[in-house]
Amino acid sequence: MGATARKLQPKSIAGRQYQPYLEASWGIKNHWYPAAFSSELPERGTKGVMIAGHEIVLRRSRGKVYALQDRCIHRWVRMSDKPLRVSDDHMTCWYHGFCYGLEDGVLKTIIGAPEDPIINQVKIRTYPVQEINGLIFLFVGDEDYKPIPPLAADLPIRITDVPNPPGHPLDKEVYVRGIHRTANSNWRLAVENGFDPGHILIHYDNILMAATERKLYLGAEPITPAAVKMIDEPDGPKGIMNMYYDQSAYRMVQENPIVKMKVRGRVDYPVRTSMYLPGVLLVENWPLQGWAQYEWYVPTDDQHHEYWEVVVHPCHNADEREEADYLYEGAFEKIALRDFNDRDIFAREAMQKVYGSGKGWDKEVLCSMDTIIVGWRKLVSQFNRGIQEPPDFLE
Ligand code: FES
Ligand SMILES: [Fe+2]
Repeated sequence: MGATARKLQPKSIAGRQYQPYLEASWGIKNHWYPAAFSSELPERGTKGVMIAGHEIVLRRSRGKVYALQDRCIHRWVRMSDKPLRVSDDHMTCWYHGFCYGLEDGVLKTIIGAPEDPIINQVKIRTYPVQEINGLIFLFVGDEDYKPIPPLAADLPIRITDVPNPPGHPLDKEVYVRGIHRTANSNWRLAVENGFDPGHILIHYDNILMAATERKLYLGAEPITPAAVKMIDEPDGPKGIMNMYYDQSAYRMVQENPIVKMKVRGRVDYPVRTSMYLPGVLLVENWPLQGWAQYEWYVPTDDQHHEYWEVVVHPCHNADEREEADYLYEGAFEKIALRDFNDRDIFAREAMQKVYGSGKGWDKEVLCSMDTIIVGWRKLVSQFNRGIQEPPDFLE
C-alpha cells in the first residue's frame, strides 16, 4: 500500500465516525450556554446576544432576567439595537412600539394602536434562563424541546477524586469571576484547542509559566487507552478527560534531543483538563494550585465564537473574597486570562481559514497527541441534543 493510500484510508473511516460533528458549524442545539455576566445586565438593563445563530435580547426587570427573541415580528428589526424601556412588564420595540410580555413573549399592546386586532394573537419566542453565581445561562435550541435538562448536565462534573477538589460554578460558597470576548474562529476549533495535549508549545514562553517557575512539558503522549477517560453520567454531563494524573497512561515529554529542547521550570503540580458538551472546559489547578479555570466556546455564527474564561475557587467569607479579588485583579486576568490565553485565540484564528472553508477536516493529518480530539468529535456526534441549523433568514 502506498503512503497516500495509508494516509487516506483511516481518515475517511474516522470522518464517518463523527459526521454529525462535521455538520455542526453553527453549534449543537438544546444545550445551556452562558450569555452574559450578571454585572453586564443591571436592573432595567437590556443586552443583545447571538448564540448559535439565535438573536436573543436579555432584559432584567425587578431583579429577574428574561430572554426573548431579539427580532420584532413587525418589521424584523433588532430590539436591542436601540433599547426602549417604557414599562417593567414589556419588551418594547423602539420602531413602532410593539410591546411583548417579558414572561411569555405575547404581543400585549402596541403603543400607538392599542385596539389593534393582532394584540394577544401573536408572539415572539422566549428562552429558558438560569442565573447563578454571577453567570446568566440560556437554554438555546428548539422552542418545543422537552424536557429541558438541568444546567448541571451541561457543566463539568464535580471533581471528587483529589484531596482539595476545585470549586464548581454551581457551588453555594464560591468565587466566580472572568471575562468573555469574541474570537474569529468556528467554535469547534476553539474547543479542540482548549484541551489539546499537543499545543503546550504555544505557551512555552508565557509570563505566567516563567513567573511562577511552573514546569512546562513539551507535550503529552498517550501511552494506553486509559489516557482518555469518557464521562457519561446518566442524565448528567457527557465529557472526556485527559488523565494526566496517571503517569502510566500519559508520558509527559521531558525533552526532544533532535531540536535540543528540554522541559522548563521546577514547580510541578498536577493540571488536568476535561471537556464537556456543549463545549465547556475545566482546567484543574489553574491559574494556580487549588483554583480552577472554566472556559466556554459559545458558537455565535459559523465563523465566530464567544470565548468565556472564568476562574473559580471555593470562597466562604469576605476575607477570602478580598484575597481572591487581589489575585484576580493583580495577576489572573492580566497574565492568565489575557496574555496566556491570547496565544490560544491566535492558534484558533490561524486554523479558521482552512477549516472555515470546510476543507480542513479532510486535509488534516492527525498524530498520536490528537487521540482525545478524535474522542471528543465522536462524543459530540453521539450525545448532542441536535445539530443547529443556520438561521432561517440566511436561507
Ligand atoms: S419593527 Fe418593531 S414595532 Fe415595528
Ligand atoms: Fe492553551
